[in-house]
Amino acid sequence: MAFKLNSVVPWGRNMEEYKLMFQLSENDMSKKIAGFGDGPACFNYEMTKRNGNVISFDLIYQFSKTDIEKRIEEVRVTVMQQMRENMQNYVWKNIKNLDELENTRMSAMKKFLSDYEKGKAEGRYVFHELPNKLPYEKDYFDIGLSSHFLLMYTALGYDFHIASMTEMLRVCKEIRIFPIVDLDANKTDLIKNVIDHFQKDYIVEIVKTEYEFQKGDNKLLIIRK
Ligand SMILES: C[S@@+](CC[C@H](N)C(=O)[O-])C[C@H]1O[C@@H](n2cnc3c(N)ncnc32)[C@H](O)[C@@H]1O
Repeated sequence: MAFKLNSVVPWGRNMEEYKLMFQLSENDMSKKIAGFGDGPACFNYEMTKRNGNVISFDLIYQFSKTDIEKRIEEVRVTVMQQMRENMQNYVWKNIKNLDELENTRMSAMKKFLSDYEKGKAEGRYVFHELPNKLPYEKDYFDIGLSSHFLLMYTALGYDFHIASMTEMLRVCKEIRIFPIVDLDANKTDLIKNVIDHFQKDYIVEIVKTEYEFQKGDNKLLIIRK
C-alpha cells in the first residue's frame, strides 16, 4: 500500500533541541551525521548554515514542499489542542508555555520548508524508508540520530526496530536514539527487548539528558561498535 502523507503528523524540532537531546558536543557536530526520521526538523538547515555535514532521511521527503506545507497547517490546530488538553504531562522548563511551543515548532518547520528544495537538490534530504537498505558503505557516517521516531512508535514492532537499527548501525559508527519511551512516556517491554538485543554485540549506554519535555522522556540511548 502506498504511503499517505495524511498518516503523518509533521512536527519538527530545532538544532538547539537536537543538541540537548543527543548531547552533541562541538566535536560531534563537526562529524558526518545521519538524521533518521528527521521529518520537518530544522536540524539539517541549521547545521548546514554552520558548515555541518548532515544528511536527513525520511518517508515524507517523497512529497513536494507544497504538500508538506499543507499537511503542517492541517495538523497544527489538532496538535496544539491535544497539547492544551495534556499540559500536565509535560515539563515546561526548556519551553515555557503553549505559545512558545507553537512558535518554536512553527519556526523550525518554516526554516525546514525554506531549505527543503535546495537541500533535496544537494542530497541533504533523502527519501528513504527504514528498514530498507541504505546506499552507503559500512561506517560511512560517524553518528546516526533518531529523535521522536524509533522506540517511540512501538506499534511498528520488534522486527521493524531490530532491522532498522541494524541497518543504521551498518552505515553509522554509533547511533543515538531519544527518547527511550513510547508515545505515552512508558518504557515498554518492546523497548527493553530491543535494547537487550543490541547489548549482546554492541556497547550500549543510557544517559540522562537535561532535555525533558514529555515527563519522563529524559534519557538518551547510545549504541556504538
Ligand atoms: C515525530 S516525527 C519526528 C521528526 C524529527 N525527528 C523531530 O524530532 O523533530 C517522526 C518522523 O519519522 C518519520 N518516519 C516514520 N516511519 C518512517 C520510516 N519507516 N522510515 C523513515 N522515516 C519514517 C515520519 O515521516 C516523521 O517525519
